[in-house]
Amino acid sequence: MKIDVLLGLQWGDEGKGKIVDVLTPDYEIIARFQGGPNAGHTLEFEGKKYILRSVPSGIFQGNKVNIIGNGVVLDPALFKAEIEALELSVGSLNHRLLVSKKAHLIMPTHRLLDACYEAAKGDSKIGTTGKGIGPTYTDKISRNGLRVGDILHNFEEKYNIAKDKHIHILNQYGFDTSALDNIEKEWFDGIAKLKEFTLIDSEHYINDAIKQGKKILAEGAQGTMLDIDFGSYPFVTSSNTIAAGACTGLGVAPRNVGEVYGIFKAYCTRVGSGPFPTELFDKTGDKLREYGFEFGSVTGRPRRCGWIDLVALRYAILIDGVTRLIMMKSDVLDTFETIKACVAYEVDGQKITDFPFEVDDNLKPVYVEMKGWQTDMSKTLEEDRLPKEFSDYIAFLEKELGVPIHIVSLGPDREQTIIRK
Ligand code: GDP
Ligand code: IMO
Ligand code: MG
Repeated sequence: MKIDVLLGLQWGDEGKGKIVDVLTPDYEIIARFQGGPNAGHTLEFEGKKYILRSVPSGIFQGNKVNIIGNGVVLDPALFKAEIEALELSVGSLNHRLLVSKKAHLIMPTHRLLDACYEAAKGDSKIGTTGKGIGPTYTDKISRNGLRVGDILHNFEEKYNIAKDKHIHILNQYGFDTSALDNIEKEWFDGIAKLKEFTLIDSEHYINDAIKQGKKILAEGAQGTMLDIDFGSYPFVTSSNTIAAGACTGLGVAPRNVGEVYGIFKAYCTRVGSGPFPTELFDKTGDKLREYGFEFGSVTGRPRRCGWIDLVALRYAILIDGVTRLIMMKSDVLDTFETIKACVAYEVDGQKITDFPFEVDDNLKPVYVEMKGWQTDMSKTLEEDRLPKEFSDYIAFLEKELGVPIHIVSLGPDREQTIIRK
């Protein structure tokens, strides 16, 4: 048995949470492999909406085991708040949510460092979520981090050593640390909550499960274009969001990866700064934002919107080795008379189809324009009843991308999903 991976192919918020929830009945274990509470994964069913930050999106479908893997960075205070809110709807989670001892802890001072580094960048801010993600992964790589397993022995001492290093840096920047006392108290309450959970060596747990033939789904956060190596650096997050991240983030060998589900929106969005070749600054962009309700689920920030970018998508499919595509939010285009797709870029009069090292104002998208379907698809549940123009759009994308579209999503609800034959 192999482990399947589900990840975003664009700049995040593709709808990963919804689809993990839809696919969960087919799996026994769902495991998050990277990122942290910078993620906001939305699920809707039975008239209710939930936003998950650190907890995997398999938590609502039956008694499945959900794992927070070693590649994740965890903020105990936010974890506690998330768990307490969830437990009001789904009851106790202790027996079905397991946490890797090797996951790294986001400290209160990491959050301050995130804010401090952003302020110091002036006009070239990344536009981070402010959750301390970059500084926590920095400490992991520089071998200064604290891990979940550390809370079991001599924790205060390890915490104070790490905190003092951060305070030293913050003082050098003249950054105000007076908020620290308040957030520290909440944070230690979070540590107490974390101790109520089973802390595991998740790499052993997952590899044993693979041997026993159990079906496992690895859930990504963010998207391929935010990957630390292959995204639009430095306007990226600080982890490997690509399929290979599931191997390092869970301790799974590459030969044990099966299907790679790549999710994309029928158009494109981005939050925060950084290049976005197909971004629209006109009424069409506003319409995408309004109809797609494109406001960040973590920060509430309006998302930047534009047409689908097939150059960037092909690049993501290549890096991730996607075997099945999932197209989200097609219904948002229901009223558009025409729809555009970027099939190449033009740079200094030359057409290019490989995603380049640098994306700047010289680069112009080359579009193909298609007739829209102008039909409300939000209540369509069968593939045979989809409008012809939409089926043509799917066929066009499959030809351009070279991978079959396995699922189309036509609304935020669990039920508004078509799994294709
Ligand atoms: P994630 O971070 O990839 O899980 O995505 P987010 O939850 O941040 O953003 C996706 C947003 O789109 C959420 O508000 C979802 O409820 C919503 N959504 C998901 N699929 C669809 C869809 O097919 N149509 C529409 N209209 N909304 C969708
Ligand atoms: P999900 O899992 C969209 C973006 C931030 C910023 C950059 C770096 O919900 O798809 P960070 O706080 O990670 O250091 O911010 O990455 N970003 C996301 N954008 N969806 C996300 O997660 C994101 N997580 C981080 O806006 O541009
Ligand atoms: Mg999101």
